[in-house]
Amino acid sequence: MNGAPDDPTQDDDSTTGGGEGWSEDMELAPAHPGDRPGPDSDDRDGERLQKVLARAGVGSRRVCEDMIEAGRISVNGAVVQVQGMRVDPARDRIAVDGVRIEIRDDRVTYAMNKPPGVITAMSDDRARACVGDMVGDLAKGLVHVGRLDQDTEGLLLLTNDGELAHRLAHPSYEVRKTYLAQVSGSVPRDLARRLRAGVELEDGPVKVDSFRVVDTHAGQSVVEVVLHEGRKHIVRRLLAHVGLPVSRLTRTAVGPIQLQRMRSGSIRRLSKEELGTLQELVGL
Ligand code: URA
Repeated sequence: MNGAPDDPTQDDDSTTGGGEGWSEDMELAPAHPGDRPGPDSDDRDGERLQKVLARAGVGSRRVCEDMIEAGRISVNGAVVQVQGMRVDPARDRIAVDGVRIEIRDDRVTYAMNKPPGVITAMSDDRARACVGDMVGDLAKGLVHVGRLDQDTEGLLLLTNDGELAHRLAHPSYEVRKTYLAQVSGSVPRDLARRLRAGVELEDGPVKVDSFRVVDTHAGQSVVEVVLHEGRKHIVRRLLAHVGLPVSRLTRTAVGPIQLQRMRSGSIRRLSKEELGTLQELVGL
């Protein structure tokens, strides 16, 4: 958890107006007390692997020992087949059948299907409906990872892991976000190519990772845009720029995490596997 890039901290909760630089999401969690063992901590030598696995819900200790024996568990990339290895849950990367799992139980990450009309902020001094109201007292220290415009709906991650929030939101990690946009106007045939090559907006160029038309009906289309940009209103501005004003915008994925069939306003805790994949993506 050390050696993170500097925090370009911004605390503006406003969701309107174009801004400079990356802006999507810089609300950071406080460093978690569990980050580093304190002077009184007695876990400098770590904990037994099977105990850590069992506590993470992988199976009973006996089952975990069998899994170790079968070569299904790796620590920091190396398969472990001896029993009793000691690991540090705060630092070591543990994988089951090659899939990284989150083993710290003090870190939680949730996915929310943010409804339109709700602002992306944990509180609001103007008493507007905000995601903080929806989260309630689910977990201490939760922050939103990135922002969605007030009118945008869909997948918003919330976590109490400050470093994870920071990395997922920082442009240098290039985490891809997927959006479905309902647009009016007809989509030119060469648009995907143009958007992949990049277009110039008033605050600089933007490129998409992919673009496709999902549906077209009665002068309206639904398009899917994947990009790793975090500038304000980027999808709406990009599509308006190419003559396709957006009437509805939904984020359907952040990296490997999918909105799935979550109901609007619902919240779910990410599984250990989902969390492991997310951490792997940003090098944690
Ligand atoms: N792009 C937008 O235009 N709005 C969002 O909320 C997110 C990305």
